Formats: sequence, structure tokens, C-alpha cells
Amino acid sequence: SVELYLQYEGLIVPKETHSFESLQYAQQFKFKDDDVVAVTYPKSGTVWMQEILPLVLNGGDLTPLNTVVNWDRVPWLEETRLAKVVDQLTSPRALVSHFTYNLMPPSFHTSKAKVIYVMRNPKDVLVSSYYFHQMASFLEDPGTFDEFIEKFLEGRVLFGKWTDHVKSWRRAELGDRIMFITYEEMIQDFPASIRRISDFLGCNLTEEVIQKVAEHCSFKSMKSNCMSNFSLVPKKYMDNDKSPFLRKGIAGDWKNHFSSEQLARFTSVIRKELEGENFSLLWSL
Ligand code: PPS
Repeated sequence: SVELYLQYEGLIVPKETHSFESLQYAQQFKFKDDDVVAVTYPKSGTVWMQEILPLVLNGGDLTPLNTVVNWDRVPWLEETRLAKVVDQLTSPRALVSHFTYNLMPPSFHTSKAKVIYVMRNPKDVLVSSYYFHQMASFLEDPGTFDEFIEKFLEGRVLFGKWTDHVKSWRRAELGDRIMFITYEEMIQDFPASIRRISDFLGCNLTEEVIQKVAEHCSFKSMKSNCMSNFSLVPKKYMDNDKSPFLRKGIAGDWKNHFSSEQLARFTSVIRKELEGENFSLLWSL
């Protein structure tokens, strides 16, 4: 709606967390060579990465998880909060972003900053987003599930079409600066996923530290950590009683929500838009 969202480069973003100034700030942001940014389409595993990255980068020191709320610990590149906390970030810095590739600022391209692109089964992304729109007062009412499917497929949702987002990053020619990982891979074998992230970032974590990171970044641990479970956000913005931000944390919840007609419609649109793309994923589209 006109009130809740800002239009930016053909995308919509919530005014509660974004402003024209913050989007300008992102464009002028100076990336450093040792920065790492986890990029996601919304509801694909962003806050999970906010948990994992500081621990991987600091060798498993739990201080950030216990002392800094996740949105300040690993801030969003495009959100208003970044300008307020940027000076408190220590290198190597970790950020998150929902930007499509074309929106990355000039300094990103000239730096050697690394990207971890997290993808999630779009059906589960949709379900997660549907509940998020019910609990967050700064987002539009999602309507019926059927209506929300149409909005999602048409890209009339935050940060646009899922297919445009993933394609933009799959096509980015970033060589060894980018790593792709899926939410499902992290669910299936979390320690191995942490190992892959740690190797990509050049952090040689011991098996013991990997296990420690896995334990402290589990869904259960995050749920019970007030620095990570959004319980510190006033209820008028996010009502965790309606639906918790950390809702289910599983792969495949779409099966409890899609009718066979909805599944057929969704699959045909997504498949068509991804035709010719070379996707090897843990889930079928
Ligand atoms: S946002 O609003 O874009 O930042 O949301 P995002 O963090 O990308 O996605 C939220 C979903 O990620 C789930 N989540 C996790 N799953 C498994 N393990 C861990 N540790 C974890 N942390 C977050 C979260 O529960 C949301 O998914 P759903 O399906 O709604 O549970």
C-alpha cells in the first residue's frame, strides 16, 4: 500500500525499516575487501546467517550472540539501522541484504567482498512470508493464501519476484567471491554447511568449534535467545503470539498449505521462469 511501502527501483520495501536515505546510504556504502554479505530473498534464512556468520568469523566466540541483537550484530545493507551501527562493526564485518544483484553499490563491485547467497524452496518461502505478513503490523495483510500465491507469482511482494532475485544472483559473474547454499542443505547437514561456509571465508575452524557453532545456531537455541528471537521488538510491530518470527524452522511445510491445484499453478509458473537456468537443488521445482 501507499502508506506501508516505499517503491525503489521497481521493488517494494517496508517504510518501517527502510527510507530513501537508507537506500541512498546503501548505494554509497563502502565495502571493504574482507566484508562478507549474506544475500537472501526474504524468508530464506537471513536471520540464521546473522547467527552463523559472527561465530564463524570469530572462531566460535559466543559474545555477539549474547550481547547484540541480531539486526545490529549483522545489519541489513538497505535498512535504516545500518547508518546507526556501522561504526560499531569490527572487521571482518558481516552484513545481510535482500538486494537483487543490480542494486549492489559500486564499491561492492570494486572490492573483493564475499557473498553467500542463501536459497530456499520458494514454496516454503511463500508459506513463511504468509505468516510473517500476519504477525508484522508494518506489512500488508496477505489476504487469503490463494491471493498471496498470486501476489508472490506476480512479484507484488517485498523485493519483487523470487525468480528474478535468484536469477540475478545466479547470473552474477563473481567467480570465487560468491558461494551458493540452500536452506535445505543447512537443515539436512548443519555441521557440513558450517564447514563449507567456514572454508569459503578462509576460517579454519576445528571440528570442535564447528559443533559449537551448530549447537548455538540451532533453531532451538535461537528460539530461546532474546537477542535472536525478536522478542525485544515491541508487540505493536511484531506480534510473536500471532505467529513467532522463528516459526517452524523446517523444510517442506508447504505440504501442509498448498492444495494440488495451487501446487500445479505455482510449479508451472516457476518452472517456466527458470527454464534454461542451471539449478541443481535439493528440492524439485
Ligand atoms: S527475513 O524476514 O527475510 O529476515 O526472514 P528470514 O530470516 O530470511 O527467514 C525466516 C525463516 O527462517 C527460519 N529460521 C530457521 N530455520 C531453521 N533453523 C534456524 N536456526 C532458523 N532461524 C531462522 C524461520 O523460522 C523462518 O522460517 P519459517 O518457515 O517461517 O519457520
